[in-house]
Amino acid sequence: AESALVESLLAKMTLEEKLGQLNQPRGRWGQTGPQVQEGGEDQIRAGRIGSYLGVHGADYTRRMQKIAVEESRLGIPLLFAHDVIHGFRTIFPVPLGESASFDVDAIENAARIAADEATAAGLHWTYAPMVDVARDPRWGRIVEGSGESAYLGSVLAAARVRGFQGGDLRADDTLMATAKHFVAYGAAEGGRDYNIADISERTLRDVYLPPFKAAADAGAASMMAAFNEVDGVPMHANGRLIDGVLRGEWGWDGIMVSDYTGVLELIPHGVAGDRAEAGVRALEAGVDIDMVSDIYVDDLPAVVRAGSLDEARVDEAVRRVLRAKYRLGLFDDPYRYSDDARERERILRPEYRAAARDVARKSMVLLKNAGDLLPLDRDAAGTIAVIGPLADDKRVMLGGWAAAGRAEDAVTPLEGIREAVGPGVRVLHARGADVEGDDRSGFDEAVALARQADVVLMFIGEHHDMSAEAHNRTTLDLPGVQQALVQAVHATGKPVVAVLFNGRPLSIGWLDANLPSILEAWFPGIEAGHAIADVLFGDHNPAGRLPVTFPRNVGQIPIYHDHKNTGRPPSEQEKYTSKYIDVPWTPLYAFGHGLSYTRFDYGDLAVDRARVAVGEPVTVAVTVTNVGKRAGDEVVQLYLRDDVASVTRPVRELRGFRRIHLQPGERRRIEFVLTAEAMGFHDAGGRIRVEPGRFTVFAGGSSDDVIETGFEVVPR
Ligand code: IFM
Repeated sequence: AESALVESLLAKMTLEEKLGQLNQPRGRWGQTGPQVQEGGEDQIRAGRIGSYLGVHGADYTRRMQKIAVEESRLGIPLLFAHDVIHGFRTIFPVPLGESASFDVDAIENAARIAADEATAAGLHWTYAPMVDVARDPRWGRIVEGSGESAYLGSVLAAARVRGFQGGDLRADDTLMATAKHFVAYGAAEGGRDYNIADISERTLRDVYLPPFKAAADAGAASMMAAFNEVDGVPMHANGRLIDGVLRGEWGWDGIMVSDYTGVLELIPHGVAGDRAEAGVRALEAGVDIDMVSDIYVDDLPAVVRAGSLDEARVDEAVRRVLRAKYRLGLFDDPYRYSDDARERERILRPEYRAAARDVARKSMVLLKNAGDLLPLDRDAAGTIAVIGPLADDKRVMLGGWAAAGRAEDAVTPLEGIREAVGPGVRVLHARGADVEGDDRSGFDEAVALARQADVVLMFIGEHHDMSAEAHNRTTLDLPGVQQALVQAVHATGKPVVAVLFNGRPLSIGWLDANLPSILEAWFPGIEAGHAIADVLFGDHNPAGRLPVTFPRNVGQIPIYHDHKNTGRPPSEQEKYTSKYIDVPWTPLYAFGHGLSYTRFDYGDLAVDRARVAVGEPVTVAVTVTNVGKRAGDEVVQLYLRDDVASVTRPVRELRGFRRIHLQPGERRRIEFVLTAEAMGFHDAGGRIRVEPGRFTVFAGGSSDDVIETGFEVVPR
C-alpha cells in the first residue's frame, strides 16, 4: 500500500511539486507563537513546501495542515519538525548530562516523554539525537551529545531513537528521530564550530561512524548532514559517505535532511560556483531535503529541464519524503498530531516532572568529596550560605536547545534548598558576581554572608548559551571573576562546596586542589533545584560518571580515555616520552570518574574461556560489593584492549557498562558479553575484523580505577 500510494502520487506531481516536497523553510516567532513566514500560506497552497522547521502548536499546525490538505492541488500533508533535544516542555538535563547517568532506560524514557509532549503540539519530527562523538571541549556543541566514547554514544543513540520513535511511528505519540550530524562534526579542527574535520578513514570508521550505525540499526527515520567537510568533501556533497556508506553499505532508507542553509554553504566551502550547482551537488550526494536555502525549489527546476540533473534523482528523494508521511499515518489522518485537548493534557504532567528530577539527579557527578563533607544534614540547626551567579537563575537551569521549555517552570538551586531544609536551618543568599565580566562589587556581600555560615554552597559555571552551536571557547576556565569569588569566599575558612553548571568539561584545577567537595550538575533541566537538593542532602546518593575526560588545562586537548599508546608512552620518570613539561599528562578527572556516598569494591574478574576462536564471544564477570554504609548506585564499567594487532589499538576502550543498585554489604556478580564486534576494528572496506592474539579486559568504577584479566583469540 505504501509504495502504491507513493508511486501514484509521484506520477501526478509536476517537477515543481516534487521539489516543493524537498523544500523546508523555517518558521518565525509570531504574535501567538511559532508561525510560518509571511507569504508561507500561499506557498503551502502552491505545493512549494513539504515540511517546516520550528513551527508547532496543535491549533496552529492544524490550520496550516488544513491549507496543505484542502487547498494545495494534491493535498499532500506537511511535516512539522523542530529541535526537541532534551525535552519539549518538560526539560531534562542537557544530553551530555543525561549521558553522565549511564542509565539507558532513563534516557530512553526521557526521549519518550519528549516525544509525547512534542507530538501533542503538532510535531512529527525531531532533530535529535545528536550522536557526534566529541573529544574537544572547546567545541560548544559537545553539550548536545554523549561525549567522547563511540561505544557509549552508540548505546545511547539507539536508546534515544527508540524513545522518540517508540515501537511504531504510526502511533500518535511517536515522532521521527534524526541522528545528526552526519558525520564527524565533533571532530571540528581546533574545536571551532563548522570547521573542517581532517581525520583518517580508520578514525572515521572506528570512532565517528558507529553511533550513526547504531541509530540506523535502531530504525532512525532520518539523519542530518553535517556542516563540516571530511577529507576535502563537505558533507552536504559527500556522496561517498551518504549514498555509499549509509545507504549502500548499511542499507539505511531514511530521509537525509540538510542542516540549516547547508546546501547554500557549498558555495563558500568552494565546491559549487552558484546556487544551482550547490543544489545539484547536494541532491546527487543524497541530501533529500533542503532546509532553509530554498535552492531545490527555486533553482533546480531549470537545471532538471536543461538536462543537467536527472529527474530520477529528484524522484528518489521525493519517494523518501512521501514514505515518511505515509509511515507517520498522515495520509490516513493528517491532523492526528494536532489535537488541542491532547496538547493541554500531555504537557508538564506531574509524572514527567518526576522523571526529569530522576534523570537530573542521576546525571550529577560527585567529582570530589574530601572528609565526606557531603551529604549535608538538612535538619542540623545552622546557617547555609548559597552564593554564586547561578544559585537562583531559572533560565540557565534549562540549558540550551530548550524547545518549548519555559524558565518559569524551572526550580532553582536556591528554591530547592529552601524547600528541602528543616525549620532550624537559615539559608542566606548572595549572587556575588555575574557569570561573565569583571564586576567584583558583589564580593564583599558574599564574603560577609559566608562568614555567618556553617557551610557555603557555591553555584558557578557557564551561562547556558556559552556551550551551544557557534559558542566555542579557547579556555575552559570558569568564566569572568567566578574563580576569584570562590577564592574570596574560601579565604573565610568556611567549608565550601562548588556546584558546577556547564555544558563541557571545565579546567577546575584550583577548585580541586582547594575545595573539599565539587558536584558537577551540568544544566539539569526544570527540576534542577529539587535534584540538587536531593543530592546535597543525601536523599539521592550520586552515581553519575563523566562521559568525557576533564583536562587539567586547555592545552591538554585532545585528551580521552581511548587514546593510543604511542611508541613512547608517557612516563613521569622518563624524559623522552609523550607528555608535557609543565603539567602531568594525566587528566584532572578521567572518563568514567564519579564518587558516591558509599564505596564499592571490585573482585573476581574472570572470563568464561581463556581461549576463543575468532568470531566467538567471551563472557566476562566481575563481583561488585557495596562496602560502605549507604545504599547506592554504581556504574560498573568494562574496558577492552587488543594488546597486539596489525594496527595500533586504543590503550583501553569502553565496551560495556551497567548501572546497578546495591544495599550496604550487598554483593552482585555482573556479567558482560564481549562480542566479536566489540573485539574488532574496521578494515578499509568497512568490515569489522578480529585478529588473533591477546586481549586485556578491565573492570572498575572509572577508566582509571580498574582491575584486569585477559583472554586469547585464536584462529578458527
Ligand atoms: O537541528 C539544527 C542543527 O543541529 C544545527 N543547525 C540548525 C538546525 C535546525 O534548528
